[in-house]
Amino acid sequence: MAIQQKGMHGAWASRWTFIMAATGSAVGLGNMWKFPYVAGSNGGGAFVLVYLGCILLIGVPVMMAEVLIGRQGRQSPVNSMRDVVNESGADSRWRHVGWVGVAAGMLILSFYAVIAGWALAYIFEAASGDLVGINGDTAGAIFGNLLADPGRLIFWQSVFMLLCIGVVVGGVKKGLGVAVEILMPLLFIMLLLLLGFSFFKGDFAAAWNFLFNFNVELLTWRGVLEAMGQAFFTLSIGMGAIMAYGAYMPQNANIGKTVLIVAFFDSLVAIVSGLIIFSIVFATPGIEPSAGPGLMFISLPIAFGGMPGGLLIGSAFFVLVSIAAWSSAISLLEPCVAWLIEAKNMGRVQANLLLAGFAWLLGLGSVLSFNVWSHIKLAGFTIFDFLDFLTANIMLPLSGLLIALFVGYAMKKELIDTQMVGTSARVMKLWQVTLRYIAPVAISAVFVMGIVDKFFS
Ligand code: PFF
Repeated sequence: MAIQQKGMHGAWASRWTFIMAATGSAVGLGNMWKFPYVAGSNGGGAFVLVYLGCILLIGVPVMMAEVLIGRQGRQSPVNSMRDVVNESGADSRWRHVGWVGVAAGMLILSFYAVIAGWALAYIFEAASGDLVGINGDTAGAIFGNLLADPGRLIFWQSVFMLLCIGVVVGGVKKGLGVAVEILMPLLFIMLLLLLGFSFFKGDFAAAWNFLFNFNVELLTWRGVLEAMGQAFFTLSIGMGAIMAYGAYMPQNANIGKTVLIVAFFDSLVAIVSGLIIFSIVFATPGIEPSAGPGLMFISLPIAFGGMPGGLLIGSAFFVLVSIAAWSSAISLLEPCVAWLIEAKNMGRVQANLLLAGFAWLLGLGSVLSFNVWSHIKLAGFTIFDFLDFLTANIMLPLSGLLIALFVGYAMKKELIDTQMVGTSARVMKLWQVTLRYIAPVAISAVFVMGIVDKFFS
């Protein structure tokens, strides 16, 4: 059975398509919405340095492990994990790791679509001219009105979900493959144009100093943890997305080099987004870089509203964010869709409708947690915050840790060697040491401190 199922979903046209797809998954709201405000509230440069260190030291090795399991299994994360565990003769309990990914994927998609909906709504908010000349109060009110209106939130969440279904229904080659080959170059072009704009019209020097002046006093233990968590989220690690994409990767592509390219693009987009956002923010008096989650939806609109060409640039910016969120969200849907097709013999259309419908329904909880259900608390969190915390701070590090341990200790050496052909002995050794010791210790620290931080401080 398992043999027949191998590769049943098709494969990327080339290694380059894999790079586009994995970059599409990695580059998303995490880079454009979250990175700038988390860096902003952690003092800038100090945070950025640690963040980049985490990407290189932990993110890249764990991502390689995920791609490797996917390419060896050639199926959805659940079934790839099952087969690789069997082939390795490892304890069958390792199989459950695949499930954490599928579950986390659904939960993340549910709230991710809601935030992506905000970005879609702001394309029209910016294009309509509503942001022209606004001050802090008006910007806060525009954002507050959006959050207070479940009807509008559900509308944009639904539009975003339909966009995702539209792509994933087309399958690996004609759906996901074609989408990322169009969306990613578009994203890079728009990013470059906005970078050019912020360079000439914003306070680029201030933004550069803020992100690259390493000021060690501003570095806190909590900031280090946030940097590590952010590295996981931004690379889409621990959720099966990269494992699923790895299953469609050409056999002759070198996993280490390919993953390095993806991590490079992802970090580049985070830094460039930071430069764009802070150049614009610093050029506008009275706005703080540490404005928190509202940085993108309150501070930036004020800045756009006050600058020449702000109407066009503002709309372009939110189109860019929506594209980034779109190419990430499809990678949250695909692993689960692939699993339903394999396990239940379901058609792709049916599987998509069922899972996107489920995530949409779950997402209503997040929508309502911003307004009519804002009083409902789970473990002290609103529904949205609870899902964010559960996935990012618990499921993600846990699954990342297990993947590192599995490939580091339990996976059969011959299987690893087959997938890593052409990698030098030194790199292999370094990778193994990271998976066995460095990543588990670091991830455990994030896991424990993340919980301690939330509940006991
Ligand atoms: N990496 C995405 C971002 O930075 O926005 C979020 C994400 C996508 C996380 C896909 C996990 C995932 F499987």
